[in-house]
Parts: sequence; C-alpha cells; structure tokens
Amino acid sequence: MRCRADTVHLVTYRSATGSVEGMTATALTALSVTPPSVLFCVGHTSRARDAIRREGSFGVSILSNAEAELAAVAGRSGSNKALDPELLVASLPELAPVLKRALATLQCKLVEDREIYTHTVFVGEVLDANVSAEGDPLLHYLGAFATISRGPRP
Ligand SMILES: Cc1cc2nc3c(=O)[nH]c(=O)nc-3n(C[C@H](O)[C@H](O)[C@H](O)COP(=O)(O)O)c2cc1C
Repeated sequence: MRCRADTVHLVTYRSATGSVEGMTATALTALSVTPPSVLFCVGHTSRARDAIRREGSFGVSILSNAEAELAAVAGRSGSNKALDPELLVASLPELAPVLKRALATLQCKLVEDREIYTHTVFVGEVLDANVSAEGDPLLHYLGAFATISRGPRP
C-alpha cells in the first residue's frame, strides 16, 4: 500500500474530557452517495476508536499541503492530539467538529462498526459537508508526505 498515493485526512473526535482531538488517517474512503457515507479503518490501540464509539460521531478534514506539520504530529501514537478550539468549526454542534482550514470537511454520525483483525471499521453517515478547495492536497506516498498541483485548466 506504500505505492499508493493516499489523501491525508484529520479524523476528529471528542475525548472523554470534552476536548476535541484529531488523528491522521489515510484509510478512509467514500462508501455510498445515497445516503452519503464514508468508511474509516482505525487501529484498536488508537484513542480515537473508543472516543468515536462513545460519542457516536467523527469529523473528517481533507488536509491541504499546508498542514503537513499537523498531520505529522497527529499521526504519531501517544502524541498530544488536542486541537485549539479556534481552529475548529461545527455546523452541527452535536457532532464532532472539523478543521476550519481544510480542502473539504465532513461531519459524520457513526452508523456501524465492525472489528476486523487489528482494526475497527467505522461507517459514518455524512450529515454535513463543506468544500473550500483552496490549496493543493496533502498526500502520503512511499512513507512520506507529498503533494500534487491541479495544473492549468484546459
Ligand atoms: C500518514 C498517516 C496515515 C495514517 N493513517 C491511519 C489510518 O488510516 N488508520 C489508523 O488507525 N492509523 C493511521 N495512522 C496512524 C495513526 O495516526 C496513529 O496510530 C494515531 O495517531 C494513534 O493515536 P494514539 O495517540 O491514540 O495512539 C496514520 C499515520 C500517518 C502518519
């Protein structure tokens, strides 16, 4: 899978203390259009797993290339994942907030979870989506962060 250039996301969730935390994730993909839904695979040892189960929601922020530093910190097990509330927004306050600065964001309600091998597969129904499309995407390729430009329009 190292040979696949993946989109980098920040998956956000509310911790037990009420703070909002974010973990870096690439194992996230679209599931269905009707209803709009996504599938996210999270390791059993990640704090995100229990938090998402407990709260019943998660946020997805598709990161721009400007967020490589955040993605590196939020991608390390045991790192401080608490996010500054100033960086966050929630159109639906009952669901996990998302990053203000992102290419696109989704607020998802947890509708299904399955334990498979070392991971939990979550299905989230997208109840709110926003697109900013400002900037180039942050990718992960061959074990390192990378980016790609849109290039000139025809
Ligand atoms: C680029 C990148 C992508 C990652 N994608 C995932 C993923 O899709 N699922 C996952 O469980 N962990 C993924 N990780 C690892 C988690 O971010 C890491 O294990 C997590 O931060 C653990 O948090 P913890 O402090 O709760 O242990 C990824 C890490 C990086 C750097």
